[in-house]
Amino acid sequence: MPVATLNGTEIHWRDAGSGSSAVVFLHAFPLHSGMWTRQIAALERKHRVIALDYRGLGKSGTPPEASTLDLLAGDVRALLAHLRIGRAAVAGLSMGGYLAFELYRQAPGLFRGVAFCDTKAGADDEPGKANREKFARTALEKGLGWVADEMVPKLLRPGADAAVVKEARHLILDGTPAGVAAAQRGMARRPDSVPTLATIGCPALVVVGAEDGMTPPVEAKKIAAGVKGAKLVTIPDAGHLSNIENPEAFNAALTAFVDGLPA
Ligand code: MLT
Repeated sequence: MPVATLNGTEIHWRDAGSGSSAVVFLHAFPLHSGMWTRQIAALERKHRVIALDYRGLGKSGTPPEASTLDLLAGDVRALLAHLRIGRAAVAGLSMGGYLAFELYRQAPGLFRGVAFCDTKAGADDEPGKANREKFARTALEKGLGWVADEMVPKLLRPGADAAVVKEARHLILDGTPAGVAAAQRGMARRPDSVPTLATIGCPALVVVGAEDGMTPPVEAKKIAAGVKGAKLVTIPDAGHLSNIENPEAFNAALTAFVDGLPA
């Protein structure tokens, strides 16, 4: 994976394909860019595909106390500037969707289109914020094995394939407890993105696993209802990580969207 010091930290990213249109993938918590391998394979024939690791997750550098969405959006912008990519289609899943909202607020002109996958627009309530702090502290104390035990059943639908369960665990175990804690603290501080929905002026796709228990289909419907012209696609036989659990259906929706974007 290429690496560069950007925005004051070491950022690692996957860089595939060579088309003139770019697609940027923003990963879920507490995983890394490796969750997008099937989507990179589907898109790289026609597009330049970029997928970065956030600070402290995957290979990227040490995080601060909180990886705020504001800070991570700055990392994405610094990476795209480094790669001389001025416009892109952006696809974010869950925490990656929160980051896509923040990136849109900071740099709407960057977006050729946006895909919000298994995510939600609202901010956390107070009990939700307190739970994230508790999770952050426990992750620092007990380590990534505990994080994987906690998260994998929430990320996947009940009865998910053993190979998919193993893959999700591995993606989590590649991170660091500090990165997990920082991401939780950053997500707790994220602003409400509901007011952002009506400001989105680029083509938008909303994708959700039919069995997503973390950000259920009702959340996807709210995003699709709030963004003018957004298309909603429900992925059957998939939970929260719909891109890994049903890659055929996910890739069909995403490639049709990306290939159909105006130049
Ligand atoms: C994710 O999948 O990125 C997270 O679980 C989202 C969250 O914790 O809100």
